[in-house]
Amino acid sequence: MYNKFIEDIGNQGVLLDNVAKDANAYLSDIEARRVSTTFEETKLKELCEDGIGAQKAIEAFKQQYEPFMQANVGPRYFAYVIGGTTPAALAADWYTSLYDQDAFGYVGTVDRQIEKEATNMLRELINLPKEHVGAFVSGATMANMAGLAVARQWAAKKSGYNASEDGIYGMPAPDIASGTAHGATFKALSMLGMGRKKLTKIQTLEGREAVDIEELELYLDNRENSKPLIYIANVGTANSGDYDDLQAILKLKKQYGFYLHIDAAFVGIAACSQNFEEYFSGWGEADSITADTHKWLNTPYDGAILFTRHPQYLYDVFNNGTCNTGVIPETASCHSFTPEGSRRLRALPVWMSLTAYGKNGYRDIVDRNVEACKYYGELIEKSDYFKLLNQVRTNVCCFTLNKQDLSMAEMELFLKMLQEDGITFSNACDYFGVPAMRVCVCNYRTEKQHMKEAFDSIQKCAQRFFGQ
Ligand SMILES: Cc1ncc(COP(=O)(O)O)c(C=O)c1O
Repeated sequence: MYNKFIEDIGNQGVLLDNVAKDANAYLSDIEARRVSTTFEETKLKELCEDGIGAQKAIEAFKQQYEPFMQANVGPRYFAYVIGGTTPAALAADWYTSLYDQDAFGYVGTVDRQIEKEATNMLRELINLPKEHVGAFVSGATMANMAGLAVARQWAAKKSGYNASEDGIYGMPAPDIASGTAHGATFKALSMLGMGRKKLTKIQTLEGREAVDIEELELYLDNRENSKPLIYIANVGTANSGDYDDLQAILKLKKQYGFYLHIDAAFVGIAACSQNFEEYFSGWGEADSITADTHKWLNTPYDGAILFTRHPQYLYDVFNNGTCNTGVIPETASCHSFTPEGSRRLRALPVWMSLTAYGKNGYRDIVDRNVEACKYYGELIEKSDYFKLLNQVRTNVCCFTLNKQDLSMAEMELFLKMLQEDGITFSNACDYFGVPAMRVCVCNYRTEKQHMKEAFDSIQKCAQRFFGQ
């Protein structure tokens, strides 16, 4: 055996203790760390002939790269949609690597049981009926891809084809429509050979990213109804956290018979909160639903789930055989329902975190984050430096600098100042042609006081920006 393996096996207790100490030190200090960092890329290191052993490799990492890690698990990181990691989820993720199970999900394996239990718990958390099966994947992009693969199979069958067996070449293209679809949806359409350009954008409400239901109805009335239609509803848009009127869309689904996929990558978790009960009522009637776990569920990267009431289509597309075996066998393994073959046991952090905190823990995260985000919106509205662009409905606040003809370059410059201040971080976006920034609150650690600290930092940067 290579000598460094022998040394590291002998030293593994010390190694692991050191990692645990580092982790504890990092998390204990998380609020004081710079929230966002910049990093100058350097010449890439070449592979050494002889290794230096784990402890020295860890030291090299800590010296070269660790200081540049973003503190995005902390309570004041508001860029993109970055969830935190609950203590239970972090522990579970370590265990996932420790046991390193290949979560094929074969009958008689513990990973299958954990995955099924985690799926059931998550389904219960967000109030979906038992008809929905779940498939763990790496993120909402892959969940959307899997959901649209199911939709494609549904559309093919409606036209007398079998896309998974025969390909899509001869089959009539279904119609695809959506309001404010995320870039991930277009990527999914591209991966599936359905074409990014084939999505018809339905007009949204004035100044909002939610679809205009009257426009959607008009579209439905004016199309050839015998042609299959895949409609993608957006529940939680990345720029403003806006959401389509699901109750109206579910009614239209009954009337027009389209396939409904819901991209609820982050806002879907809000279905656990009584404050969103009416909104999500009956949403299990959808054909498929995307929900990220690494966002508002606060489990670590990477993880998401696709729920669908069409397990057969999911199996048609993703089973591992050379041809479609037809009916799903009792013994079908978990990976027969997902794009991957070998897979990480992503279900374990979900299982552990849901077991540790239950429904009330997650209601607390959602309600507290929404309240914190609304509070931030109020602070923005009262400030002379900023202009609020959206009504804060969920956990996203979108705003801009109060300057006429503000350019995107100026917005980016402002964000650079914010990054240098190190207290908080957000990202830029284009909101109906206005260069803007948005704050997304989805970390279990975030309290109102953090919003105030973040706001004080952006006020300070605005003073500098406006030269005061
Ligand atoms: C609404 C929505 N859909 C899809 C995605 C893509 O998710 P992921 O990065 O997990 O693939 C995101 C990411 O922010 C999102 O907000």
